[in-house]
Amino acid sequence: MSEPASSLSLELQPQGNHQCLQVTPSSDFCLRGTLKVPGDKSISHRSLMLGALAEGETSIEGLLLGEDPCSTAACFTAMGAKISELNSTLITVQGVGLGNLQEPTNILDAGNSGTTMRLMMGLLAGQEGKFFTVTGDDSLRSRPMSRVVKPLEMMGAQIWGRADNSRAPLAIRGHKLQSIHYQSPIASAQVKSAVLLAGLLAAGETTVTEPALSRDHSERMLRAFGATVQIDPETKSATVTGWPKLTGQKVIVPGDISSAAFWLVAAAIIPGSELLLTNVGVNPTRTGILDALALMEADIELLNQRDVTGEPVADIRVRASQLRACKIGGDLIPRLVDEIPILAVAALFAQGTTVISDAEELRVKESDRLSVMATQLGKMGAKITELPDGLEISGGQSLSGAELDSFTDHRIAMSLAIAALTAKGVSRLHRADAASVSYPDFFTSLQNLIA
Ligand code: S3P
Repeated sequence: MSEPASSLSLELQPQGNHQCLQVTPSSDFCLRGTLKVPGDKSISHRSLMLGALAEGETSIEGLLLGEDPCSTAACFTAMGAKISELNSTLITVQGVGLGNLQEPTNILDAGNSGTTMRLMMGLLAGQEGKFFTVTGDDSLRSRPMSRVVKPLEMMGAQIWGRADNSRAPLAIRGHKLQSIHYQSPIASAQVKSAVLLAGLLAAGETTVTEPALSRDHSERMLRAFGATVQIDPETKSATVTGWPKLTGQKVIVPGDISSAAFWLVAAAIIPGSELLLTNVGVNPTRTGILDALALMEADIELLNQRDVTGEPVADIRVRASQLRACKIGGDLIPRLVDEIPILAVAALFAQGTTVISDAEELRVKESDRLSVMATQLGKMGAKITELPDGLEISGGQSLSGAELDSFTDHRIAMSLAIAALTAKGVSRLHRADAASVSYPDFFTSLQNLIA
């Protein structure tokens, strides 16, 4: 009788406060099945925040039960919103009303979440007469906050912090705000949303103009809650009118395309794979990953396209195929900004050299994602060059198992886990548990899809 082929194994091992993933690959496996990815992180944050500010009850179906939305829920609970326990995907929020957030008796901790901190700062700046202190974990305390502090100060906000008011911990004294027209130097939904949310508490119209269109979940959800929001796609501007009546809503959170991206790439590069990802949000400001994979000639089909509480949703089928290299840059970057680490993994398996440019924003995410991906994939033997604003990746490569580190960045953890599946030899991915920030069940789902 012939020896059975050694099978792929994934083992999570405790390592101090973290977990290490040991991947023992085999040459003979693929990914197959149907999977519902967890709720969209951006929409989850916004539904909790607008629910907390609205009058009456908001119900949220499909909320992401990851660490980042838990940070948002804890902050707004500390300011008086009544949020049901985050132990089921159906959550209710009893809001306090627009200017009625309570002064918290302790520091607000945004954990690892840039969206929590930046959007919340917009909402706190105009809470007149109240004092707030916001902080986060090591990663968040090292990330630039001046990008929101500056426009908020232009509106009259009073903010103090480290490094010339640019690093958390930050202190905010709520103050009367005035509306502005802010020309943002970067395409950032966090900056745009912070200013628009501050504009809710300023008389008149607050406009943000961006150099390229970033995700528009705030604009869509603000409208659904009753705010007046005007969009000018020509000038890439969004305008909100101050002091709207926000009323609690029923929000259904679609699956996160940024989480689906790991499966889209994994199935595209692992021969014989076929996955059906159901209920994925396909808002056009987020589908840059589908455009990039189409450029790479991936076999991807959108099925059953529909609209769910103001957001486009589809099921996505992906089958393995030979990928081709492509060039990614310009206005596409904000539409796939969180997917670049996993796109770098796809590029390793494409024919030709892929160049990603205009992506300097990746240096100030949860980690410096350009540097970390280049060094970690480099350890596996990949030919990948770090550019000041991107990556150059040679395709058609074979990877070797290595000692890898997520640098506590969720998207790096999941991208490297997929890379490790395709390597020859054992990899150990340190601090793999970082995945829980946006995808707590990622490794269980991976195990279940292995065929
Ligand atoms: C987010 C916006 C993006 C993204 C982040 C979530 C949001 O950041 O990277 O994961 O929910 O608004 P920037 O808008 O700063 O690029």
